[in-house]
Amino acid sequence: MLTLRRPLLDICLYLLLPAGEGRILGYNNGFHYQDISNGNGNGEIYFNGVRLFVESPQSSVSATRGSSVTLPCHYHYEPELATPRRTRVKWSWLPANTVTTTVPPEAFTRETEVMVAMGNRHRSYGNFQGRVRLRRSAPGDMSLVINELQLNDTGRYRCEVIDGLEDESVTVELELRGVVFPYYSQKGRYRFNFFGAHQACQDQDATLATFEQLFTAWEEGLDWCNAGWLADGTVQYPITTPRDGCGGADLDPGLRNYGQRHRLLHHYDAFCFSPSVKGTVYFLNHQTQLNFTEAVRACVNDGGEIAKVGQMYAAWRLMGLDRCDAGWLADGSVRYPITKARANCGPSEPGVRSFGFLPPYLKFGVYCYR
Ligand SMILES: *[C@@H]1O[C@H](CO)[C@@H](O)[C@H](O)[C@H]1NC(C)=O
Ligand SMILES: *[C@@H]1O[C@H](CO)[C@@H](O)[C@H](O)[C@H]1NC(C)=O
Repeated sequence: MLTLRRPLLDICLYLLLPAGEGRILGYNNGFHYQDISNGNGNGEIYFNGVRLFVESPQSSVSATRGSSVTLPCHYHYEPELATPRRTRVKWSWLPANTVTTTVPPEAFTRETEVMVAMGNRHRSYGNFQGRVRLRRSAPGDMSLVINELQLNDTGRYRCEVIDGLEDESVTVELELRGVVFPYYSQKGRYRFNFFGAHQACQDQDATLATFEQLFTAWEEGLDWCNAGWLADGTVQYPITTPRDGCGGADLDPGLRNYGQRHRLLHHYDAFCFSPSVKGTVYFLNHQTQLNFTEAVRACVNDGGEIAKVGQMYAAWRLMGLDRCDAGWLADGSVRYPITKARANCGPSEPGVRSFGFLPPYLKFGVYCYR
């Protein structure tokens, strides 16, 4: 219990140094720790029999993009202490596997700092600077408030409370509310390698779905018999009604998993994740039907832009967009969103109906985003 751990020392250094210098010092001999420790020099005696508890009532929190979220974290001592101790708090973050680059995945398995705080002093880091604070609504409340949530803020957050001698932590998962949708290339089925899939989702204002997101979508009823890339580099598809050609009729419902595939050489579709959209997706009122070029221009003339597939799915799923008129979308596909299934508006379940990619001279309505 009395060993000094590296993270603890690092925190002390960060707080002692002016902005930007904390990271330069990689190692120290504990001198700084002595400098700012709780003071009386016999903390270990003081601490006999007292235990630090760090807790969170929620192990996962979900929120919408652009909103604020609170990740709960509280600490207390048992037995209760008569005099308050100077406690340090460090929030760090392990990004969800939505970050996809050519760097091997191990590069992303390291936690990075979000914020460290000691007393009333605190510092936030990187992309979190200016967007995070501690809630401090009661003694021991170290809940982290994040403003202006971004698509890439998802992942596992660790609340670490450090008391010089003890160091306890709890983790809270942050998910964005959104919708998973399958996506395939304009060139046809199974044309994306991993990087192509990543780009295709981005082009639709979405990201490659994580395993957890696809699993949740499957729990909510998604059934799709085409394999697609996920953010972790695996290829899977969700089946709720087992049947031949989709893993077999004898197999239980679930995610069919091809495992890790070669990111360059193997080709599949993609599962994208679209978080809630800030703006509105709407069917443009226009006297005549439009070809694709006219559709793009009509949305611009209306003060918006032609909607992307991810925006259409988010509006359908999260805002109840329902319209039985086929319209162009930005990728050159023609679709319409149905939340209340009815006659002449496609199958008996809700969904975004798709005619796929159509020749641009054909005439339809258009869905815009503003
Ligand atoms: C996360 O997204 C924001 C805004 O979209 C961007 O500025 C930032 O660089 C991204 N951070 C990472 C780590 O990709
Ligand atoms: C769409 O119609 C316009 C005329 O309104 C025409 O100039 C344009 O070439 C057409 N685009 C396509 C893709 O057919």
